Order: sequence, then C-alpha cells, then structure tokens
Amino acid sequence: MASLGVNIDHIANVREARQTNEPDPVPMALLAELGGADGITVHLREDRRHIQDRDVELLRATLQTRLNLEIAATPEMVQMAIKTRPDMVTFVPERREEVTTEGGLDVLNQQKPLTTMINQLQTANIPVSLFVDPDGRQIEACSKSQANWIELHTGKYALAPAKAKYVELAKLIEATTRAKSLGLRVNAGHGLTYQNVEPIAAIQDMEELNIGHTIVTRALSIGLQEAVREMKKLIQYPRTDPLFGIQEKR
Ligand code: PXP
Repeated sequence: MASLGVNIDHIANVREARQTNEPDPVPMALLAELGGADGITVHLREDRRHIQDRDVELLRATLQTRLNLEIAATPEMVQMAIKTRPDMVTFVPERREEVTTEGGLDVLNQQKPLTTMINQLQTANIPVSLFVDPDGRQIEACSKSQANWIELHTGKYALAPAKAKYVELAKLIEATTRAKSLGLRVNAGHGLTYQNVEPIAAIQDMEELNIGHTIVTRALSIGLQEAVREMKKLIQYPRTDPLFGIQEKR
C-alpha cells in the first residue's frame, strides 16, 4: 500500500505572494499530519521563491512524520541538507524560469557529480532519491549512481488525454518493475489529482506518492486536514486495477 507525502510548497507560495508571514506552512504541515500524511515534502529552491530556510528548520524540529527535502543537485544545497538533516533528500532539476519542476533529472549525463553528492549525503545517513522520467536508461543510471530511491515523474501521465493515459501508465508500471529489479525503491509524483491518483496508487511496489497542488487546492474548500484524509483514502484503497481502469465504484 502506497503512503502519502504531502508537498506544502503551495502554502508558502501564497505567503510569498505578499511577502508576509501568513499562511505559515509549518503549522499547516502539522494539520496535514493529523489528516494522515505519512511525510511532508518541501522544495527549497535556490531562488527561495516559496519555501524558506526557516521553514525547513522549523519543520525539522516539529514534524512527527518524515521530512523529504527536494533540492537542486549543487554542492551548496547538499551542504544545506547535511546541516538540516532531513529524512530524505530528493534531487530535482531546477530552472529559474520554470513555473514548477519540468521533466526529470538527466542522470545519464551527470552521473559522476550526482554519485559524489549522493555519497556525501549517504555518509551523513541521509538516503537519496532521484526524480526521473519513466525511462529505462535513466533508471539504470540512477542505480549506477547508488541512489536509494527514485521518484518517477507522473507529469506526462497526468497531462495525457484519456486515450493516451494507459500508454503513460504502462511506462510507469514498467519503470517501477525495472527499478525494483535493480534494487531501487520507488516513489512517484507531480500532477497527481483526486481524479487520476488511483491507478498510480495501485501499482505494485509503489511506496510513496508526493502530492501538493491538488491537496492545497482542495484544502481551500474543505480544510487541509480533511483534504489530506480524502487523498489518503484514495491511495490506500484505490478502486482500480492499474492496467484495466476503474472496475468498481465505491
Ligand atoms: N514531486 C516533485 C519532485 C515535485 O517537484 C513536485 C512539485 O513541486 C511534486 C512531486 C508535487 O507535484 P504536485 O504539486 O503537482 O502535486
């Protein structure tokens, strides 16, 4: 059964829109935990456009679950992570002009520096995940760079029109199997919603789904704790077989 990592970057986005001190993502993370989040994910971007250093420090001190820190693969961010001691670091590609993370890491073409940084984090007892597209060659490169986990990018699946969804889903299933066979543990995320999450949650060996935007959006109408509770239920009891679509309505 997959677990749920709640990404709270969008709460910080609202705060930074006014550069003030509310809403504060730290107490919101505690509400997400009360709703059933198995972990909290934040992306500390180099430009600090949403999550700030103080958020990460306070989350580290207060979370009852796990802190997954997403960062760009740079020596400065690795040092920051070693200082903060999250439960996991996920390396993500980062471009200043992007609205959100686009595409997975090109692990194949940066294997050497990535391996060095992964090793530094692991030496500090921090496991490392790499955010990658469901592409066999990238997954092999993740294994060669000694990562502990991969996070499969579900953005293409999320955006695919209904007819093409199963093609993208099949790629995610195949990628999960390949990663497992190489000894990697598998998470997934990006673009998942209350409408499209169930087939991904039903993939065998899928360990955790990192979900942000849709939960924060839902929280605007029903509150964060309840929004997390609803998502957790869909992930725990997906109504669908991953390959054959929704079989049974609740
Ligand atoms: N996983 C990664 C690596 C991400 O960069 C993001 C977006 O910040 C997410 C998951 C969550 O995506 P979404 O906000 O679309 O649920």
